[in-house]
Amino acid sequence: MTEDNYQKKIKSSEILGKILFPGREIQRKTKELGNKITLDYQGRELIVVCILRGAVVFLTDLIKHIDLPLSIDFMSISSYGFNDTDSGLVKITKDLDETIEGKHVLIVEDIIDTGLTLSYMIKNLRLRDPASIEICTLIDREVRRIANLEIKYCAFKIEEKYVVGYGLDYKQKYRNLESIYELKTDTVKKDIESLKSSLNK
Ligand code: IMP
Ligand code: MG
Repeated sequence: MTEDNYQKKIKSSEILGKILFPGREIQRKTKELGNKITLDYQGRELIVVCILRGAVVFLTDLIKHIDLPLSIDFMSISSYGFNDTDSGLVKITKDLDETIEGKHVLIVEDIIDTGLTLSYMIKNLRLRDPASIEICTLIDREVRRIANLEIKYCAFKIEEKYVVGYGLDYKQKYRNLESIYELKTDTVKKDIESLKSSLNK
């Protein structure tokens, strides 16, 4: 099956709902954020930290619009349950390769939900004495926030819906779609029910 056929097939499937943010709108917003970051970080040594895996697609587009010398690094955090960090149980599964001491750190994330993943990460990074830490997220779902976070750069805000595409996954799939889609609620509900019943066994 060609890539084109694969994309067509899943777009008309039972899984994907409507497009929330089309690719061209994401590109426009990303450029706007990149320009803003360029102005804000003039004369500073910037290190852009990407949270694996969801933020990879956003990161690669964003850095092309940051007109400054910068370096990139990657960090991965595991959460327990599926995409659910409500328990606050998170651990670093891949740490940064470079030191951030005295540097200006910009964390790039795909979506901030409860905020528990990022607040854990920021607490950990602060211990390494960076000059500053700021957050740039593709999506902010503030309605579910538990941890208090200050988000300096944000492309889009959403309400309750679960979303996929442009780096965001559902069971590790759909990251390669150029637009951001809602996931059909029935799909998520079914999965949550089966997860709950398996936990109760
Ligand atoms: P938080 O710790 O609750 O803020 O969880 C944020 C993480 O959960 C993100 O980095 C995503 O990996 C994942 N996540 C939360 N909501 C969604 C969504 O709607 N689609 C895909 N991943 C999500
Ligand atoms: Mg993530």
